[in-house]
Amino acid sequence: MALDVQKIRADFPILKRQVNGYPLVYLDNAATSQKPQMVIDAIVNYYSHYNANIHRGVHSLSQEATDAYEAARKKIQQHFGIQHAHEVIFTAGTTHGINLIASGFSSLLNKGDEIIVSALEHHSNIVPWQMLCERTGATLQVIPMNEDGTLAISDYSKILSEKTKLVFVNHISNALGTINPIEIIIQKAHEVGAAVLIDGAQACSHVKPDFAALDVDFYVTSAHKMCGPTGVGVLYGKETWLRKLPPYQGGGEMIKEVSFEKTTYADLPHKFEAGTPNIAGGIAFGAAIDYLNSIGFDAIEAHEKFLLEYATKKLLEIEGLRIYGTGTKKTSVISFNIEGIHPYDIGTIVDKLGIAVRTGHHCAQPIMDFYKIPGTVRASFAFYNTKEEVDRLVAAVSKAKQMLT
Ligand code: ALA
Repeated sequence: MALDVQKIRADFPILKRQVNGYPLVYLDNAATSQKPQMVIDAIVNYYSHYNANIHRGVHSLSQEATDAYEAARKKIQQHFGIQHAHEVIFTAGTTHGINLIASGFSSLLNKGDEIIVSALEHHSNIVPWQMLCERTGATLQVIPMNEDGTLAISDYSKILSEKTKLVFVNHISNALGTINPIEIIIQKAHEVGAAVLIDGAQACSHVKPDFAALDVDFYVTSAHKMCGPTGVGVLYGKETWLRKLPPYQGGGEMIKEVSFEKTTYADLPHKFEAGTPNIAGGIAFGAAIDYLNSIGFDAIEAHEKFLLEYATKKLLEIEGLRIYGTGTKKTSVISFNIEGIHPYDIGTIVDKLGIAVRTGHHCAQPIMDFYKIPGTVRASFAFYNTKEEVDRLVAAVSKAKQMLT
């Protein structure tokens, strides 16, 4: 069923505002999505009515807060097709989840082991593995990319071997929007006995992955890209892996018994959840998942596909404009440059016309190096964007071109 976009837009208070005298056109959804009223209400409601620490008190407020937080964990479990609620670890976001795994593997890797990442990674899925290699003597291998911004999957088979212990790939590239063939990546890694972590930060607002069907070992994502708040995310791990990995941080809540001689750790998921978590954030993450499901991922995908195709066609009518990331499987992200113009200048001019896009290397410098460019202008669309907003973007980019050439 087609989306009633105007009705959806009414759920997002921020979409009513003006920027620089123009109605806001928010096209920086890959950086963070906007928040519907029901997510904002979930946060306000927690702080207004049942703010208390969780898992600690016998008092009623603490119980209410604990129930709401654990209900959110269950929502996440069901949404992603996860077998057990204790395989859902709340984190501060995708970067936190990746670092948790990288730290855990320090004790499981040896010199000579190999880790594979892809050429399309965000820095958060490169730097932690380089640090892990420094700690363990393992080496990093890279699945190369093609000119169209897809992965050279035939080269993946060549670098996979029995030395490969871990494979880390993003589900969707933040810089280009390429949807990676994670099913094949997972299957081939398992053939050599390697574990796979998928960075789903850019995926879960567009698609609804089923972790059991994927048979993925670890999957991480952030609430704030999914209409939820910042500072909260999720790490899914298969129970067997989560039991094998040591805790990431020590502190309250993650222990069973503490003495100065010895500490034993709490069971899953608490072993990985030291300290007071982002309680309001976790609860609001649950509300965001409810909100997205009330719209439906089939409808979201169909509308975003329409926006992507329309915007691609219209932008390419501007002479000298080049789009980076032209694979057939991509989500609603368009990274582009205009010959002879710095992306920052285009971003600045379109902002003056009320349009928010991201400019720069998008925390993916190796991709920019591949194309030999300093960065791109990135317009990233969500289900609440409209055809009229695409027209405003195209008009603003054309105007920027006129002013700068
Ligand atoms: N990783 C986010 C982006 O791509 C911040 O903009």
